[in-house]
Amino acid sequence: MTITISKISQNGSGLDVVWSDGKKSNFNFMWLRDNCPSAHDKDSRHRMFNILKVSKNIKPKKYNVNSDGKLEIEWSEGDHTSYFDPSWLRENCYTLKNKEKYVSPYQLWGSSLVNNLQSISIEHDEIINSDEGLIKWLELLHHKGIALVKNAPTEKETAFPVLNRISHTRETFFKTPFEVINVPKPNNSAYTAHDLRNHMDLPWFENPPGYQFLHCLINDAEGGDSSAVDGFAVADYLRKNEKEIFETLVSTPLKFRDKDYTQESHRSFHATAISLTKDGDYHDIRFSVATMDALDCHPDIMDNVYKAHHRFGNLLHDDKFQIKFRLEPGDIFSFNNRRLLHGRTAFNPNSGQRHLQGYYMDRDEIIGRLNFLKKNV
Ligand code: OGA
Ligand code: ZN
Repeated sequence: MTITISKISQNGSGLDVVWSDGKKSNFNFMWLRDNCPSAHDKDSRHRMFNILKVSKNIKPKKYNVNSDGKLEIEWSEGDHTSYFDPSWLRENCYTLKNKEKYVSPYQLWGSSLVNNLQSISIEHDEIINSDEGLIKWLELLHHKGIALVKNAPTEKETAFPVLNRISHTRETFFKTPFEVINVPKPNNSAYTAHDLRNHMDLPWFENPPGYQFLHCLINDAEGGDSSAVDGFAVADYLRKNEKEIFETLVSTPLKFRDKDYTQESHRSFHATAISLTKDGDYHDIRFSVATMDALDCHPDIMDNVYKAHHRFGNLLHDDKFQIKFRLEPGDIFSFNNRRLLHGRTAFNPNSGQRHLQGYYMDRDEIIGRLNFLKKNV
């Protein structure tokens, strides 16, 4: 059923609209003038009209619903008339949107996910050959923060075609792909045979990579099993059960610093362990025992901050929350690097070979592509 405008009337600095289904909206005059359909260039889709050049008192000289059903407004200044499509106004109605209850896109998970790894697995060729496959992968990444791509080729650099179905990768000084192998004189603990506690990569960037893809080429050594934990699920547990700790984690900036000996640069950033979105949903987790710097918060709060960090970090390694699994050659372990923490057990480099290739991608690329394919925006 197409929605139409039943009634309009002026109300202060806006227009009240009653819709054919009885719902009511208010549209502010400056908002309406700014969003006149003629405001945008048809090619660049950028706004050419400049709201800064009208007065703050702009208002309709005349308004009505015209014979096409459009809201027609003749403005008090600028010798301009706007014609608004009712369906556009309804879709962009901020009165109704602000009444809706926020629904999180995130499906939080705990250790039981390990019993159903099938639910987060997707065949490599399905992604390559169909948009449905690509959408399924993107939805897993967006909603669950984790996906296992199965049966990818195992030659070097062969993750590019499937990653490029989403978008371009994010470059860093570790290069793309980065080689996760045991090397002498490593500049990162991932390039050893040691175990890696659950961590995120590169928390010392202002904007750490949104997603990470670890492509398993060879996994023949003893050990080297993977772990992952949903940091949002742990944050949610704390929010519901240990409020003081949660408050400390969302309010105190911690310090992260890169100490890479190959770099002629000292990258450093302060950020809270948990950050929230405008809707109060989970935005980012920052956690890495290996690269948290000497903290510099106020002496009065240091004890509380350390206790909160200690509690959070231990929950991030708790078997109630984390899953453990083993990557097989041809797997691409794909995850939200600012939500999940990942780790591995130590491996014995004398018992066989182990080689992963890693790639990063910005979060905008995942969500933007999913929105495009599902025509969400
Ligand atoms: C990494 C990493 C995990 C692994 O390279 O960032 O965490 O299984 N690797 O080697
Ligand atoms: Zn890592």
